[in-house]
Amino acid sequence: MTTPLSLLPMETVLVLGSTGSLGSSVLEVLRQQSYRIRATARTPLKAEQLTPWVDEVMVCDPTEPGTLTPALLEGVDYIISALGKSLSLSDDSRASFHEVNYQGNLNVLKLAQAYGQVKKFVYVAAFSGENHPNVAYFKAHEDFTKALRKSGIPNSIIKPPVLFSAFLNLLPLARKGRLASFGPGDAITNPIHEHEVAEACVQALTLPVSTIELGGPVAYSRLQLAELVGKAVGKNKPVPRVPYWLVRTFLPMVRLLNQSLYEKAAFFVEVAQTDCVAPAKGHLRLEDYLAEHV
Ligand SMILES: NC(=O)c1ccc[n+]([C@@H]2O[C@H](COP(=O)([O-])OP(=O)(O)OC[C@H]3O[C@@H](n4cnc5c(N)ncnc54)[C@H](OP(=O)(O)O)[C@@H]3O)[C@@H](O)[C@H]2O)c1
Repeated sequence: MTTPLSLLPMETVLVLGSTGSLGSSVLEVLRQQSYRIRATARTPLKAEQLTPWVDEVMVCDPTEPGTLTPALLEGVDYIISALGKSLSLSDDSRASFHEVNYQGNLNVLKLAQAYGQVKKFVYVAAFSGENHPNVAYFKAHEDFTKALRKSGIPNSIIKPPVLFSAFLNLLPLARKGRLASFGPGDAITNPIHEHEVAEACVQALTLPVSTIELGGPVAYSRLQLAELVGKAVGKNKPVPRVPYWLVRTFLPMVRLLNQSLYEKAAFFVEVAQTDCVAPAKGHLRLEDYLAEHV
């Protein structure tokens, strides 16, 4: 005899990074599937904003081990982590990718190893990270992936190339006509809607999958992407190209002045020169998304 779904005990998912773009989509999918949700927020204000969407919020900062207690893991069946330093240029936090993506996640992983009974830890890394060991953003994701693989906790790694939400950060620049492309902008990638990545994260809780690589239905060049964003805000002028030699000249100076900005710039220069196309598993289109969000 099978137990009706409504009589099964609700399982609790701890969501890290739930205040972010992907994290908030993860909350949506978990709610649709009737999971019990515990979220974390760094400030009481952010906790208050999350309250309508989750069963419980704990105020803590995964990058500050002193704020983490075993209570965070009490009764938790699964963890989904979309915790990572923002790539947005409007984020001026000085923490490094290593401190957030690696150390922040590792602090929670250690707690889970010590106190939790976690059936699965699903971590969102980045597609093709293993090919870019010298880029801090990718390295931090890959380093945490290795730690999670070794932890003894069952896990799945979700690897999207770029989320649609990343292009929302470019809208203010596009409105001011300040979008530019590093180099010729001919490297291609296939962005994916964060909701489709969130669905993959939630599916992975109960599927025996080690890694899910997933991108959207269309591969665009970086230049085409900048043009799409411009078009979405009614700016149809050609996107200026900043030559690589100029970027390379300034990068060492940026590194001296602002390590955080340097790490982001180094990431953008790397992806501007490298194709990054994941298996096309998403169906939603970036053009529709941009039209909805302008
Ligand atoms: N965006 C993309 O195109 C893309 C592509 C591939 C992989 N990914 C990865 O997917 C994950 C989620 O991406 P996303 O775009 O949803 O990121 P996001 O919107 O920037 O959200 C990041 C989350 O991490 C938290 N966080 C950031 N810095 C922190 C710090 N110093 N200490 C503690 N918490 C911090 C944020 O909390 P606050 O709200 O308190 O800041 C937020 O909850 C990241 O690991 C990212 O690298 C993203």
